[in-house]
Amino acid sequence: MPAHIAVIMDGNGRWARSRGMPRAAGHRAGVKTARALVEACGEKGIQVLTLFAFSTENWRRPPSEVGALMKLMVEALEREVDELAGRGVRLRFIGARDQLSGTILSRMEQAEARTRDNERLTLVIALAYGGRWDIVQSARELARRARDGALDPEAVDEQALGERMALAGLPDPDLLVRTGGESRISNFLLWNLAYSELYFTDRLWPDFGVADLDEALAFYANRQRRFGRTPAQAGRA
Ligand code: IPE
Ligand code: IPE
Ligand code: MG
Repeated sequence: MPAHIAVIMDGNGRWARSRGMPRAAGHRAGVKTARALVEACGEKGIQVLTLFAFSTENWRRPPSEVGALMKLMVEALEREVDELAGRGVRLRFIGARDQLSGTILSRMEQAEARTRDNERLTLVIALAYGGRWDIVQSARELARRARDGALDPEAVDEQALGERMALAGLPDPDLLVRTGGESRISNFLLWNLAYSELYFTDRLWPDFGVADLDEALAFYANRQRRFGRTPAQAGRA
């Protein structure tokens, strides 16, 4: 079982289009899928689930679609946080908060504060998130500390950079799932996906169900994770 699953929830627009519905209807259906996945992961004992909800590049979409996505996020938080809190889910948001509106920020902060002490499943929502943004903001923070004399530049290493990245304190994703048929990372967790197992499926996100999750988990269970070692070494580990 993976401890941490990261998901690129792709295909909402195509799902809606194939039904003659507006793209926003696909996003609404996608929220339901996300909700079901959180439940399933909680039941399976997954410790961390990270969902890519909105990328730094998604700001390039038409303002009406961006607006619909942000509105959906606010509504989902208002509707779901009580139940998530009751189920022992801890919420954490990653991304460029300074790009988000006050309305959504306050909902996010409330949700994080409300679920802070929960331990069953950590649900990370990547919103206005980009893997390059993440690396840059960590590097900038280290540069500031060096400028202030609080950090020797020679002490900048993988650990120092990683400790200031958005997922600091959580294990790296063991498994990345991307729905919607594309085999790319789209600027998701560039740093943390270094050794993740990658699972791509044609299933569109609103159609992704528990059987699909089981298929992804079966794929994961069949991988030998070697982390650079030989197969024989990894087999003994
Ligand atoms: C994923 O679905 C949701 C977001 C990126 C916010 P898309 O909206 O990208 O759906 P497609 O790829 O156009 O089908
Ligand atoms: C990736 O999906 C981002 C999210 C799922 C939030 P996109 O639909 O934005 O990815 P590209 O642009 O097709 O690579
Ligand atoms: Mg897409």
